[in-house]
Amino acid sequence: MADLLIANARLPRNAGLSTVRIESGRIRDVTDQPERVAAGQALDAEGKLLTPALVEPHIHLDAVLTVGQPRHNLSGSLFEGIAIWGERVKSLSADDVHDRVAQVLRWQVANGVLFVRSHVDVCDPQLTALRAMLEVKREFADRIQLQLVAFPQQGIQSFPDGEALMRRAVELGADVVGGIPHFELTREYGEQSVKFAVALADEFGKQVDIHCDETDDEHSRFLEVLAAETIRLHMEGRVTASHTTAMHSYNNAYAGRLIVNLRRAGMQMVTNPLDNAVLQGRFDHYPIRRGHTRVKELLAAGVNVCLGHDSVMDPWYPLGKADPLQAAFTLAHYGQMSGYEEIRTLFDMITVNGARALGLPDYGLEPGCRANLVLFDAATESDAIRLMAPRRLVIRDGTIVARTEPARTVVNWEGRDEPVDFMPVPIKVRQPIG
Ligand code: FE2
Repeated sequence: MADLLIANARLPRNAGLSTVRIESGRIRDVTDQPERVAAGQALDAEGKLLTPALVEPHIHLDAVLTVGQPRHNLSGSLFEGIAIWGERVKSLSADDVHDRVAQVLRWQVANGVLFVRSHVDVCDPQLTALRAMLEVKREFADRIQLQLVAFPQQGIQSFPDGEALMRRAVELGADVVGGIPHFELTREYGEQSVKFAVALADEFGKQVDIHCDETDDEHSRFLEVLAAETIRLHMEGRVTASHTTAMHSYNNAYAGRLIVNLRRAGMQMVTNPLDNAVLQGRFDHYPIRRGHTRVKELLAAGVNVCLGHDSVMDPWYPLGKADPLQAAFTLAHYGQMSGYEEIRTLFDMITVNGARALGLPDYGLEPGCRANLVLFDAATESDAIRLMAPRRLVIRDGTIVARTEPARTVVNWEGRDEPVDFMPVPIKVRQPIG
């Protein structure tokens, strides 16, 4: 007897309907034909899209909901954002972090996000944010799975006792080692910081996730160092490069060679179109560069690329509601990924690609996988992104953990109330007469 039977579901990249049977919190089987099931025995997906739970591979939870504190980012630049955050962290407390993050974790579950990798600023001798986030991770473990990155926002070599703080953060329980080489005081410090981070992760058996070359400076080339260290220490598949916006400005010959080496290093890539759409190109005169990584070229070369939200209402990005669909919608435009297959790839980037980058076991729609699922109020990937479709159901280990009742919109049209759901009604094409 199934714990939950979902009939008439449309799975990603699948035109037909499927039935998903869940037992003991896991997917028992997926059958192609919609089953005839008696009312009340199954949950009828009504032909809507059912995907694995969404994965958020890159967010800064310790900074969420701090926009305007203590002041707004007037230039809109990355570096003014870092300066404002440097002021805000002085008033950081465990309760402050806990209460803001607890709100956004609720938003994420409501959006269907059940797996999150959060960077946490460790440029603080007390490690207040990290200690608070470790507590949050434990407190909410039965609702959302967190990976924490020891993230040196002010640099490793450029911040007093930076290396010791990173080591302490890993000893305290950080899952992943971070870095920010393009922000270090010198190029040499940047290289040193990458080598230190990869070696530290290797020593403790951790993963690596570096904020790498998040700048419009075509001379920022720490990604090649990260790839080389990954290969040298046999860390293939366990290392992530986030942002990598400078790749936009590299010459094609250099970028092409780099992408080959990223593939060889098994590098996991994260692009963050929401923040980088507003942060990059701030020092350009026209034409203003888009300044984001080469998503399509990386994917074409067989490199895993996933999609992050990065910020929710913080000094770098004042908008957002922790919904990966907003990031996917933005990348469809900003990364010119509006082709038929590309829209489906956007969905991979907020699900399976993110799961691969985070190394999540038992993830997906295959029999035996944990039943972590999202049912959208849209039939296709394209409509889900176009409409920012509500998540009708979010299911964690076979249990419904969030529900959304879609809004009902009515337009008064020629004296009558008529419902509008933004879905095209098939129109008969009139044949020309004669
Ligand atoms: Fe980031």
